[in-house]
Amino acid sequence: MKKILTIIGARPQFIKAAAVSSALRQAGLNEILVHTGQHYDANMSDIFFDQLNLQTPQYHLGIGSGSHGYQTGRALMELEPILEEVAPGGVLVYGDTNSTLAGALSAAKMHIPVAHIEAGLRSFNRQMPEEINRIMTDHIAQWLFAPTHTAVENLAAEGIIQHVFQTGDVMMDAIALYLEEARKHYPGLLNDMGTKAGNYILLTMHRAETTARPDQAISVLKALDTLKFKVILPVHPRLRPLIQGLHLKNVDCIDPLSYFEMLLIEESAYCIVTDSGGVQKEAAFFGVPCVTLRAETEWIETVESGWNQLVDLSPEALLKAIECFKKPETPMREYYGNGKARYIIADVLKNASNAN
Ligand code: UD1
Ligand code: UDP
Repeated sequence: MKKILTIIGARPQFIKAAAVSSALRQAGLNEILVHTGQHYDANMSDIFFDQLNLQTPQYHLGIGSGSHGYQTGRALMELEPILEEVAPGGVLVYGDTNSTLAGALSAAKMHIPVAHIEAGLRSFNRQMPEEINRIMTDHIAQWLFAPTHTAVENLAAEGIIQHVFQTGDVMMDAIALYLEEARKHYPGLLNDMGTKAGNYILLTMHRAETTARPDQAISVLKALDTLKFKVILPVHPRLRPLIQGLHLKNVDCIDPLSYFEMLLIEESAYCIVTDSGGVQKEAAFFGVPCVTLRAETEWIETVESGWNQLVDLSPEALLKAIECFKKPETPMREYYGNGKARYIIADVLKNASNAN
């Protein structure tokens, strides 16, 4: 049996990989894990390995933070000898981070086929580093696991039609796998956090486009601070410098949360305000109104179904959206699959490995 080498490095990739790894194991595939080290704080990395029982990576590149060129370039250099040593039958990458691009590029250059989970997502905004990473990765991948019909169409529009599989979204698999466990693990979480279901707004901000516009980002924070709701803000390290010295009364700035805690805080929020990709979908899954601090989204189904509103970094539009949000009558879970994407992915990779 040929080996699959998975390359991950950032928070959401640990969550996705935890969900998919279990299915790869069940399919009898031998998965070797590489952590690039793009995220390295304990609460951005270790906590997910521990909580989600993700195997300890066989290789840790220790890349850390830096410019796009530094992160991608160093990962490329470090990955080459590992790929040579392991000689996997395929390389698996997730999403659109610098770790994704480095993983895909190093494998493709060594003629190792690449499998891309979350293929075909587009914001059509090439100012976003993630958009460049996604396009490049999709165009060198051998197997493209697209979460939605829209993603399949996006790929077709770029001439990519072979080996494209509409799987559903692996984040739904993660919710299906871990929600009950999260509830058991933290029965009194809201109480411990000094709040109640429906009494707070959950806020996350971490995108480069957000922190690159500090004045607007701060005006959004100040606008939220005027609301009668408590605002819970688990602070991504990219946001830390921006909030330092701000005197916010109602915005509770806390350390990044574990995945279990995050699911529970999302589920009971009055509303979620975010610029995160994963959090937009989780809000829709839980039927919690979402307001997205971006001008566009890759997850357009959340907007089309009425569960998500895009306001960019406009405080006025944000406050209006929160005040006037009308929940649609239909839930929107079905757009992102039935929480079984991992089995389709494992099946395709197993068949490919048998064929080799
Ligand atoms: C990265 C991804 C983004 C993804 C996000 C998930 C790219 C281009 N961006 O953004 O698509 O949505 O991860 O969270 O790959 N830092 C720490 N400790 C850490 C990690 C980061 O302090 O463990 C700080 C450093 O100052 C660093 C900054 O956060 O410069 C940004 O980290 P980086 O990995 O470059 O990008 P993210 O914003 O995390
Ligand atoms: N998340 C988490 N703790 C936090 C913030 C987010 O576990 O403090 C989870 C969140 O529930 C989702 C994923 O991390 O599953 C989203 O990651 P992030 O927002 O960093 O990146 P994106 O999805 O935008 O790439």
